[in-house]
Amino acid sequence: GTRKPKGARGLRFTPVAPNTADAVTVPEGYDQNVVIRWGEPILRGAPAFDPENQTAEAQAGQFGYNVDFLALLPLKGERGRQLLVANHEYTDEVLMFRGYDADNPTREQVEIGWAAHGLGVVVVEEDRRSGRLTPVTRHHLNRRLTATSEFRLTGPVAGSDLVRTSADPTGRKVLGTLNNCAGGTTPWGTTLHGEENFNQYFAHGSRTTDKRYGIGTGATERKWERFDKRFDLAQEPNEAHRFGYVVELDPYDPDSVPRKRTALGRFKHEGATVRLTHDGRPVVYSGDDERFDYLYKFVGSKRMRHGDSRSAREHNLTLLDEGTLYVARITGDSPSIEIDGTGRLPKDGEFDGSGQWIPLATATAKGAVSHVDGMTAEEVFVFTRLAGDKVGATKMDRPEDVEPNPVTGKVYVALTNNSNRGVGAHPGADEANPRNANKHGHVLELTERWNRPESTRFAWSLFLVAGDPQDPATYFAGFPKDSVSPISCPDNVAFDAHGNLWISTDGAALGSHDGLFGVATRGDRRGELKQFLTVPKGAETCGPIVQDRRVLVAVQHPGEVDGASAENPGSTWPDGPGTYPRPAVVAVWRTDGGDIGV
Ligand code: FEO
Ligand code: CA
Ligand code: CA
Ligand code: CA
Repeated sequence: GTRKPKGARGLRFTPVAPNTADAVTVPEGYDQNVVIRWGEPILRGAPAFDPENQTAEAQAGQFGYNVDFLALLPLKGERGRQLLVANHEYTDEVLMFRGYDADNPTREQVEIGWAAHGLGVVVVEEDRRSGRLTPVTRHHLNRRLTATSEFRLTGPVAGSDLVRTSADPTGRKVLGTLNNCAGGTTPWGTTLHGEENFNQYFAHGSRTTDKRYGIGTGATERKWERFDKRFDLAQEPNEAHRFGYVVELDPYDPDSVPRKRTALGRFKHEGATVRLTHDGRPVVYSGDDERFDYLYKFVGSKRMRHGDSRSAREHNLTLLDEGTLYVARITGDSPSIEIDGTGRLPKDGEFDGSGQWIPLATATAKGAVSHVDGMTAEEVFVFTRLAGDKVGATKMDRPEDVEPNPVTGKVYVALTNNSNRGVGAHPGADEANPRNANKHGHVLELTERWNRPESTRFAWSLFLVAGDPQDPATYFAGFPKDSVSPISCPDNVAFDAHGNLWISTDGAALGSHDGLFGVATRGDRRGELKQFLTVPKGAETCGPIVQDRRVLVAVQHPGEVDGASAENPGSTWPDGPGTYPRPAVVAVWRTDGGDIGV
């Protein structure tokens, strides 16, 4: 046989070289298949994908557009099958419709866009002889939730005046979820989905709070407000207060109404990942993906119940409604910081320091209490960014996915980039965000005091400072830089069973396509970063899941390049010339059937 590639356990593969192929490129000795594409029918009665004759009704029964987060959950009693849960973050109308007129979208096009957003649940089946996965269409658990499905607001904001609208005077029933980016799987068998850039869907924002959330004063690019007045804040000012939450879905109950968990705050939630305290309470980490925005965590006050009984499941569906929301203040401990592109480390030799979780508000069954002067608890949970501003939280370089390592408990924060750092009147570099005009991003490693998830103090260090390893301003946890892969713009993160960190990228600025990378977090190979795959032109790499025998990624927005259209797409992946580019989920496995990277 061939010589076995070296590397940490789980990362023994030959790295994929940076490239610009319009394909998913995997290491030698690995194979792949497209699991499911945008438009494939998953519900009973849904028609086959017909891009020239799209309808909203068809799309509502088909797999949605642009997948970011992916979860794979076990399915008892159905051998070889798992439950795939996907976020359909947003739509790219210019790539979806031939002849799309952005100034005058039709009602049908807008409604197709609504139906292509949201969440998807689809049972997938594995091939006995390979890692290939295929969808089980029309399974009774398959489900689509869209921009018009019913969701419930729960927790401290539910029923508040701030979220009542003319269509929903109760302030509890919301139609739709929007811009779900990353997410997480809970230990009690549900999934979490972060509502991220919800600002883009709302027109005519006029309040200071709208501005802080990036809602514009004019019409939107999507023009949805022409077709449903709730997207026009001049008519329905509170509708925008009903988006920007973490959604919890019970994918095992196809009739369940998903909940928007307001106790986790309202901001551009990139995602949400859970870890339990020693006494079984949930701690949820979440980043607010904006230049100079914050890192948050929620510490629940109720304990998870084990087991699959109805009462345990019902109890666990209340865990995220009570607890305290915190924001991070991160301090460097070096006498001076000189990360200015010359590659010098801070004077004490490391990018590191300490930090504090600052409480913002606490939600209880009896009501909520604010810890921020001048803001009520309801205001803290709805205008969470303003609460973070008031308490002096640390302004970060776009916090994307934040995830605890299930093996070590250390928490990894992907900070994707920040073109404005140190530019004009914007804040300059600090030790936790050490580069001005940060093009390539970095990854911060956070250790809670005593490794207790509920601690209010932590230590931190930078794990990676991304870029071309030949650039002296990069850092790979101290690993020799002559043998690591170049990486730019870390976004989603995941872990394998060995505790290796897997990082997917979005917007890589080194001239090659985005991809998926694995890196050891422990041992003498800590920091040895290796590229596992690359994605087609214009795509970002999303949703990584690394199981023992299979890696799953979502190829999001293939063909999304400047000036592209359905007639002239930047990519024709996955189906080749003459076809529409189709966002899709891909499975990768070892041709010889062995474990990934072992
Ligand atoms: Fe949807 Fe922050 O990426
Ligand atoms: Ca992201
Ligand atoms: Ca993740
Ligand atoms: Ca991103």
